Amino acid sequence: MLKTLNNSFLLISITILLFSHKAYSQAKSYESQTDSIISLMTLEEKAGQLNQISSGLGWGPVIKQEDLAEQKLLVKEGRVGSFLNAIGVNLTREFQKVAVEESRLKIPLLFGLDVIHGFKTTFPIPLAEASSWDPVAVEKSARIAAKEAASSGIHWTFAPMVDIARDPRWGRIAEGSGEDTYLGSVMAEARVKGFQGNLNSAENIIACVKHFAAYGAAEGGRDYNTVDISDRTLREVYLPPFKAALDAGARTFMCSFNEIAGVPSSANRYLLTDILRGEWNFTGFVVSDWNSIGELVQHRMAADLKDAARLALNAGVDMDMESRAYVANLPEFIKQNKINIKDVDEAIRRILRIKFELGLFDNPYKYCNIESEKTNILSKENKEAALDVAHKSIVLLKNNNVLPIRKDIKSIAVIGPLANSKSDPLGCWAALGNPNDVVTLLEGIKHKVPETKVRYAMGCSINGDSKEGFNEAIKIAKESDIVILTLGEEGNMTGEASSRSTIVLPGVQEDLAKEIYKTGKPVVVVLMNGRPLSIQWISENVPSILETWFLGIQSGNAIADVLFGDFNPCGKLPVTFPRTVGQVPIYYNHKSTGRPGIAFVKFTSKYFDLPLTPLYPFGFGLSYTKFDYGKIELSTVQISPDGKLTASIDVKNIGNYDGEEVVQLYIRDDVASVTRPVKELKGFKKILLKKGETKKVEFEIEKDQLAFYNKDMKWNVEPGTFKVFIGTNSEDCKEASFKVTD
Ligand code: GLC
Repeated sequence: MLKTLNNSFLLISITILLFSHKAYSQAKSYESQTDSIISLMTLEEKAGQLNQISSGLGWGPVIKQEDLAEQKLLVKEGRVGSFLNAIGVNLTREFQKVAVEESRLKIPLLFGLDVIHGFKTTFPIPLAEASSWDPVAVEKSARIAAKEAASSGIHWTFAPMVDIARDPRWGRIAEGSGEDTYLGSVMAEARVKGFQGNLNSAENIIACVKHFAAYGAAEGGRDYNTVDISDRTLREVYLPPFKAALDAGARTFMCSFNEIAGVPSSANRYLLTDILRGEWNFTGFVVSDWNSIGELVQHRMAADLKDAARLALNAGVDMDMESRAYVANLPEFIKQNKINIKDVDEAIRRILRIKFELGLFDNPYKYCNIESEKTNILSKENKEAALDVAHKSIVLLKNNNVLPIRKDIKSIAVIGPLANSKSDPLGCWAALGNPNDVVTLLEGIKHKVPETKVRYAMGCSINGDSKEGFNEAIKIAKESDIVILTLGEEGNMTGEASSRSTIVLPGVQEDLAKEIYKTGKPVVVVLMNGRPLSIQWISENVPSILETWFLGIQSGNAIADVLFGDFNPCGKLPVTFPRTVGQVPIYYNHKSTGRPGIAFVKFTSKYFDLPLTPLYPFGFGLSYTKFDYGKIELSTVQISPDGKLTASIDVKNIGNYDGEEVVQLYIRDDVASVTRPVKELKGFKKILLKKGETKKVEFEIEKDQLAFYNKDMKWNVEPGTFKVFIGTNSEDCKEASFKVTD
């Protein structure tokens, strides 16, 4: 017996050794192959490998012939290492053929694209997906996007965008996961796993975590604007989602346009080298944002493009997206010893490493399968997945028993410009999403209740000031049993360079809502928007409100399923809804201040013309059923700094529908060596409860959820009392306390 055991142990250990040797030798061979390639490169080829240019006309596989010829020549001369916006098996194969068959060193190209929430099967915008609080669904969304993009020749997506955003004026809030660091970290991990999976497969693509860092903290919510935050805020609020993405295996980062406390990210060695590589041991590469190296001149940190190239390379930017600073200046710099050639070689090594990891040296045409392009895109399964994620992204903000609507209702008036829009539901950064593939809300309703008389009136445009359509809308409202009124923004009113100075409904939409309300008919408002909106009048007067964001191609079907009760809404807000833009920035995990705001008490921190609270708090979302929370039970009320405890609570479905609930765990450090937020999300569990069912939900609480950067910027747990909050949103929680001993 013992002999047999010894033999099997021996066999196992030899196998492990062989595998680890294989992996080691593979990595070793990469490194040695990379070294030999670098040793053969001319200075111009070195600079070219760090150069990324945009092909195509921005978004489509369409490219002007003269551009194609010029770009192929650059590839042949080794002056381009990567393209963005080169889309399609045919075009990418054409470029790759020049690179690996006609250029001198035959180094394969890397093809990147912004695949943010779908490639052709457009999923809900990321802020909507974050509302699902469902990392499994979000990972699947990224997985499908990756498979579709990879089938069309794309190796690399400039996603996930993991910028924390506390200012709804900032249009790019739509591209991220909202205001919370923990939720943002969970979503970052899910998206990286979804995009990258196992890079040996030609159905996975390289992720690119952006925009590093703190891009969402732009003053005034104005895109590209100055960011001036403390190192503590940088590390506690903005960096963790990037670290979560890195821990999930992300192989590239994109530095952001903005400065942080005087140093633009594209020249920020503290960020790109000391933290990213020194503290976090990142071994992939950093790509600049579009011309962000060149913009060091506009920042007035570089005197000219030469200076910008030197600053960026020294900071740790490996690949230059579209500023041409590297390809134009590095050879001269090296000859004049103005930069260390070792830094250039290291940047090349990082890029070649990723090309090796992607398998492009073994098979440069790995992503050029014309059959995959025909079968993997916009498939039935992909559309079903898009519907599933869209269902889960919808947040019920209010419901005074109008929803769900009975399917035998006789007549419905559908009103509003967004109800019949094919393009807006795609939202921003929709890649090859096609409006013709979008199911509008009007189409979804007609499909859901074919026997019902469904009438439509636009009422007004999204952003215009004409009220000419009001009468037609009022007429059909009066002649119908119920009104479904869509309000919100144009799909392109959020995303890059789309900051708004207000967050009210654009145009005359609120006036339309007031006229429809006067008809006395039951009204359901369906919001379609890419940022929190201040909808105080709607919130106070309209009986039912659904927040649907921009849900992608399955928008109309998903909303119709919720409206008629075939899906019980379970989304929760990933971002606070202010009452007015005057409250901004307003977020749940704020500090106490020395005079915490108290209603009607003058000398406390508040506005005297507004209530203290937001319109809707972070984590808020209703259901067609009702959940009752019991008392928090703690496994102990005292732990050591390295100890742990369990907090549990019974949650009961006391309503008439089966439903999902996101049970949220928040923690507060009562007294500490620096001020701490009034509470912070430290965990959540999404549970399904059948009507009448009760489940006990348990959370482990330990060091990582209690630690913070103390006054010496050391990450640790301080003794003292802590509060535990568990509930249905950041304001509506049960409480308990425990102590951490010395
Ligand atoms: C942009 C965006 C970035 C995007 C890049 C490539 O300006 O800031 O998010 O990935 O260009 O399109």
